[in-house]
Amino acid sequence: MAKRGVIIVAGGSGSRMQSAIPKQFLMLGGEPIVARTINTFSEAFPGAEIVVVLPEAHMPLWENLRARFDVAPHRIVAGGVERFHSVLNGINALSSEVEYIAVHDGVRALISKRLIIRAMLAAEEHDAVIPVVDVVDSYRRVEGENSYIVPRADLRIVQTPQIFNAQLLRDAYNVEFNAAFTDDASVVEARGGHITLVDGERTNIKITTPEDIALAECFLNLM
Ligand code: C5P
Repeated sequence: MAKRGVIIVAGGSGSRMQSAIPKQFLMLGGEPIVARTINTFSEAFPGAEIVVVLPEAHMPLWENLRARFDVAPHRIVAGGVERFHSVLNGINALSSEVEYIAVHDGVRALISKRLIIRAMLAAEEHDAVIPVVDVVDSYRRVEGENSYIVPRADLRIVQTPQIFNAQLLRDAYNVEFNAAFTDDASVVEARGGHITLVDGERTNIKITTPEDIALAECFLNLM
């Protein structure tokens, strides 16, 4: 079986949660958000290398939390200025033997094992895979005083884990940062890679604002 690596990015300081503690360390269902994320990946890929990217200033807080909760084995590395730099630090922390790399937002703690495995199987066939879901709202693009409807059928909401052939990802990240790089697929695409879409999950939300925590607790009760 191909050797798998996982990068869980939780290196942001997250101002939108309006909380002194970054959102990835808040409690969800009795454990820190990022602990749940790590454990789900460890169950999906037993024996995989897991690297967790954290804000340098919060590493002592995480050391304290990981000692108090049941968290699968993982290594930690410091984050960078943008998500791009945090992922790059994660790539550099994985061993060169890793053949496929899954990059996942630490705050997407409701990810299911099923989706992780399904996306990995697709990546082993197509090299660059991201989960997406359809949009249900209407969207408008604003240009100065005017706004224009965007055809909804053409849009998808992008989630993680984004899973790549490791060499493809390493080569793609060997580039200067560009503000258009909002996720890993955008970096791989800039290098000429083709992105394959798989069905994501509506419950795989990016816990970002205080109301997301309440929503996530509700989803947990349904799972
Ligand atoms: O900022 P954004 O909401 O796009 O963050 C998505 C994920 O990337 C979060 O899990 C966040 O912790 C992580 N991140 C990071 N390093 C940064 C910024 C964001 O690891 N500098």
